[in-house]
Amino acid sequence: MDPARRAPFPAEAAIHWMSGTGNALRLAQAFAGDLAAKGVAVRLSQAAPRPEPPPPGAWLALFFPTHGFTTPWPVLRLCLALPLGRGRPASVVSTRAGWWMGACLRGLSGSAAWLPALLLAIKGYRVRGVLSVDMPSNWITVHPSLNAAHVSHFIDQGRIKTHAFARRLLEGRRHLWSVDNLFELICGMALAPVSLGYLLFGRPLFAKLFMANERCDACGLCALHCPQGAIRMKAGGNWPYWTLHCESCMRCMNLCPRQAVEASHSLGVLLNLAAGAPVVALLLALALPGWTGGPVLQKGLPGFLLNYAWYLLALVATYALAFQLMRWRPLRLAFAFTTLTRWFRRYRMPGLRPSELPGDPMNRKRRSKTDPRPVPTESSRG
Ligand SMILES: Cc1cc2nc3c(=O)[nH]c(=O)nc-3n(C[C@H](O)[C@H](O)[C@H](O)COP(=O)(O)O)c2cc1C
Ligand code: SF4
Ligand code: SF4
Repeated sequence: MDPARRAPFPAEAAIHWMSGTGNALRLAQAFAGDLAAKGVAVRLSQAAPRPEPPPPGAWLALFFPTHGFTTPWPVLRLCLALPLGRGRPASVVSTRAGWWMGACLRGLSGSAAWLPALLLAIKGYRVRGVLSVDMPSNWITVHPSLNAAHVSHFIDQGRIKTHAFARRLLEGRRHLWSVDNLFELICGMALAPVSLGYLLFGRPLFAKLFMANERCDACGLCALHCPQGAIRMKAGGNWPYWTLHCESCMRCMNLCPRQAVEASHSLGVLLNLAAGAPVVALLLALALPGWTGGPVLQKGLPGFLLNYAWYLLALVATYALAFQLMRWRPLRLAFAFTTLTRWFRRYRMPGLRPSELPGDPMNRKRRSKTDPRPVPTESSRG
């Protein structure tokens, strides 16, 4: 690139991150370190629904994980809430699930990094960098964590890639149309229906799989650190209850000091039976023109909305019922022992302290009103 066409890097940068288990946070910190070393004043903050606007002319950078081959909803919400770009430069980095199966396997970000890049471009930001980085997969709902050697392999590679990205942007060059970015863009478009399905159906279902097993001592740490304020301590302050605000970021599951948070597969079967019946009927009605069976038969938008309302209601009601029944210890044990996550190794970025992952500030206020016990900390929990 002609050096004369390179844009000088601004003196200030605002970095917003979303991170369940620390992968995106560590890369955001690595990026911030490279910028600070070149004299850029950096502000790092966790993605929030009402973000502090970046200073005029400052670089805007986003770091977050991929969920369902696309961008997690809190990051899309952040992009919508940010002020107009007015020519501010911006970059977007998504982390994806590095995996090991006899060899290093890359994750698939799909539209995760491209969707915020598009939203920011529409809002008048000059997007100069898009990147997807393989980091250890943290989706413990579906598999155990990688072992320590594979975890450190992905972290080392991820850091190297992020430093190279920062160097490039600091030199005033762009990073947009790489082979990897083009591949993700094509996959993202091809997988758009799957991503939409994840956001509409998968996200609420995965939220309602969470339960606390019999090891839970009601310390409330999971609720305090939830970035979405999605956990309520119910039944006399004793058990965490997961609401539909959960984004399945995996923070609670991996921070719990007693490894008491499970994503219950047996509860999932129950939820699917309750919530899935009309959806299955609708799919059958769409696929088989002669099909007239099933609980909900309307097609088109009204049929979809009716089915969707049923789906959400059935999830919430079945979960609430199961939660009450689980106050009976044998049933809690039955759910806890019929979930694979009981035997899955947990994951969080090595060396990460829970205090680096603060929850929604409302959690602390809510707790201080309802629970007289001192707020648990890492040291109080050992
Ligand atoms: C609910 C959920 C969905 C995920 N979907 C994908 C995916 O579609 N593609 C992918 O490569 N990784 C996927 N992942 C893996 C994470 O994006 C990856 O491990 C990321 O580095 C986690 O970053 P964090 O620790 O900052 O949250 C998913 C993880 C979760 C929890
Ligand atoms: S952090 Fe673990 S032990 Fe503490 S309330 Fe949550 S599930 Fe229970
Ligand atoms: S409830 Fe757990 S998984 Fe869901 S958003 Fe909160 S911390 Fe993340």
